[in-house]
This record gives sequence, C-alpha cells and structure tokens, in this order.
Amino acid sequence: MDTYYIDGEFVEDGHAMIPAKDITVLRGYGVFDFLITYNKRPFHLDAHVARLENSAREIGLTLNHSNKEISDIVLETLERNPHHTESNVRIVYTGGISPDGVTPQGNGILMVMATPKYELPDWWYTDGAKIITVDMERFIPTSKSTNYLSAVFAQQKAHGQDAIEAVYKTKDNHLLEGTTTNLFCFKGETLITPPDNILPGITRGVVLDLLKDRYDIQLRHIPEQELHEMDEVFITASNKEIVPVVRIDDLVINGGSPGEKTKDLLETWAGYTRAYGLGEAG
Ligand SMILES: Cc1ncc(COP(=O)(O)O)c(C=O)c1O
Repeated sequence: MDTYYIDGEFVEDGHAMIPAKDITVLRGYGVFDFLITYNKRPFHLDAHVARLENSAREIGLTLNHSNKEISDIVLETLERNPHHTESNVRIVYTGGISPDGVTPQGNGILMVMATPKYELPDWWYTDGAKIITVDMERFIPTSKSTNYLSAVFAQQKAHGQDAIEAVYKTKDNHLLEGTTTNLFCFKGETLITPPDNILPGITRGVVLDLLKDRYDIQLRHIPEQELHEMDEVFITASNKEIVPVVRIDDLVINGGSPGEKTKDLLETWAGYTRAYGLGEAG
C-alpha cells in the first residue's frame, strides 16, 4: 500500500479522492509534474516544482502553495513510503470546483502520489526503439497541463505500429517532441534539439548541460525531410531517461542500432544519476 498526500492529508492510495465536479475531471483543466528518485533522492525536485508553477501560470491557474511548501510535501510523501526502493512521483494541482464549470475559483487541490518506480524493458536501451511521427500539436505546449488527449490518442497509434513513442509534427513538417519525451538528433559532431513549442524537459536540460562542452549544440527546428541526414536519434524523459531511436516511421537510423554517441551518453547519464543519488552532483 502506498501513501498519497491529498488536500492537506496523507491517506492510503485507495482513499485518495477528488470531487467529481472538479474541473480537472470535467474539463481537463489542471497541471501536473512527474519525477523519479535516484537512491531515494528526488531528481531535480526544485526544477520540477518550478515547472509546475510555470505550467499553472501559463494556463491561468492559481496555486495556493509556495514552491517550498510543495517541495516539502513531496519530501514528506517519500518519507511516508519507505517500502519503495525507488519512486515515481506525480504532483497534481487540480482546477477545483467551479459553479459554472468553466471559471476557476482558486480552490484547486494539491495531490502528491508516490508509487514504486516502474522499470522499462532493457531492450529499449540495448537495441533501440521505433518511434512514429503524428500530425498533431499540443495546446500551450510549454505547460504540463492535465489535458493529454493528444498524447493518449497518439500513443495508441504508436502502439499499433510497434513503436514506443509518437513525435508531434507541425503543419510545416517540423518535429517538436514526443507525447511524453523530448527529441534529440546527432548530425556529425552537432547535437540538435527543437527550441520552442515544446515542454522544457528537465531531462533535456540536464542532457544539454552534460554535453555542452562535448558537442556543438544547436537549438533549432528539425524538418522531417532532414531526418535521413541524422546519424543518431534519441528521446529523453524522467521515467525513460535516454532511449536510443533506431527507426522513425519507415526510416532506419544508424543501420538499425544505437549509435556510439548515444551509447556514450547513456553511460554519462548513469554516472551522473548515480552521483546525484549519492548527493555528489547537483
Ligand atoms: C510533452 C512532454 N515533453 C517532454 C517531456 C519530458 O520531460 P521530463 O524530462 O521533464 O520528464 C514530458 C514528460 O512527461 C512531456 O510530457
């Protein structure tokens, strides 16, 4: 049994409830964030809470907790789940109850859910994975709102094509990001990732920082027709970390195997997160 924080109380997971009239339920209006722990230390908690606050600001949702209060609640929730080896943490701030169903009243509910970390298949990392592109874009993409309709829809499409992720593509065929991941490409010694109209991933930020002195970094749009010139492709996210991509739709990348630079990054990442868990990296 896991313990969740909900609206001022710590309760058993099965007893965590929000009112059916909350506009997160009725309208998909709310925000959330997601992070994992390394050696039980929440990874870049301050950055995740700052992003939650920014997500709320961007959709006009008032939060009644300071960032420090939210961070302290996350830490206490983790302490109340000592049976987890590592945790997935979801922080959700709902829109609250609204008399007319569309006008937020500033009475949203804060929830923090800690669940055991979910392990992903090893072959994603050793063999690389397939992703697809979808002609869709997220609404207010810099905000991690609870409206993930496009993600649920696109993921169904991806799974139907033996792919693990779908990447959003603009009307003028620029790739943006995956449903829950950011996208990177290596072209020679240059590392390219889209600059805007995306969620600024915390993993993306750390990867850019770790690699800034090793490669020429270009924050720019990636036209779909340029993909066949890319030597290596990978996606990043808190739970998935770094996943090598070996196929995009019908295009095979790097002969169908993870490239050397991506494999090198996986090692750098493992070293960094190990040090982070020991409190030796910030
Ligand atoms: C749309 C979207 N892009 C990118 C990411 C990756 O962000 P992070 O590295 O902070 O997990 C996520 C995470 O869920 C996401 O939902």
